[in-house]
Amino acid sequence: MSSTGSTYGGSGVGAGDTHQATVRDTDVLGVSPVPAEHLVAEYVEDLGVFDPIVGKAQAIITRYPQSRSALLPMLHLVQSVEGRVSQAGIQFCAAQLDLTAAEVSAVATFYTMYKRKTCGEHLVSVCTNTLCAVLGGDDIYKALGEHLGSDGKKLGHNETAGEPGEPGSITLEHAECLAACDLGPVIQVNYEFFDNQTPESAVALVDALRAGEKPAPTRGAPLRDFRTAELELAGFWPEDEADYRATVDGPSAAVETLRGAKLAEDRGWTAVPYPDDVPLPEVEKK
Ligand code: FES
Repeated sequence: MSSTGSTYGGSGVGAGDTHQATVRDTDVLGVSPVPAEHLVAEYVEDLGVFDPIVGKAQAIITRYPQSRSALLPMLHLVQSVEGRVSQAGIQFCAAQLDLTAAEVSAVATFYTMYKRKTCGEHLVSVCTNTLCAVLGGDDIYKALGEHLGSDGKKLGHNETAGEPGEPGSITLEHAECLAACDLGPVIQVNYEFFDNQTPESAVALVDALRAGEKPAPTRGAPLRDFRTAELELAGFWPEDEADYRATVDGPSAAVETLRGAKLAEDRGWTAVPYPDDVPLPEVEKK
């Protein structure tokens, strides 16, 4: 890694010819009240690690009318390489999408699915939002933190047991509502659901992961490691796509999920028809 440049901002990587030209032309050091030695220089990373995914990056870009719209899957793609979004990953996305590093960074740091620290082989997300919390999610998170910790210290949020990326390593996080409240408390492993968990079942689950097993999720796709899941989130499926699709498209609606609809059906309830001709409210012109 090397540092270059006497100005800060306006990444040379992926620089476009719109507003960036103005930013790049600004001599920030010249106008800054902060001494030059206290300013962080722009870093230009070695992007060679991403050479194998350039073709995939281009394939993602072709899905969208404007290249910048490809940023979210592109960030998943770089995570499939490094298990996180590194500064190099940010610069790679910027270069591919004709964005500034600052624009990519703003997005990557906003969403919790983009990790700044390298994830373990598996990412274990425990829902500790209200419903799961009162059903036992807090107890599960506490039990996993204690079980995965070492030297009397609990594993904390976004911390990894084992060497990140190595087989058997596990990153623990607490998550906001995972949209499966009817099946709480829930855990996700690499974003696949394990429903109706207890502290004991959760501990057994991470022990199986650490032993190299891939327990079947309650529903949905088969369990992968974190980086493979990231590749899938970027839109790249396994070679044996037919088998994969059959598994993914299998029954996934739980009895609990359909209970309301079943009750309504049994009792002959229907929703009030929605009228076709509802006038739109006036919008004040600005
Ligand atoms: S509160 Fe846990 S899934 Fe909604």
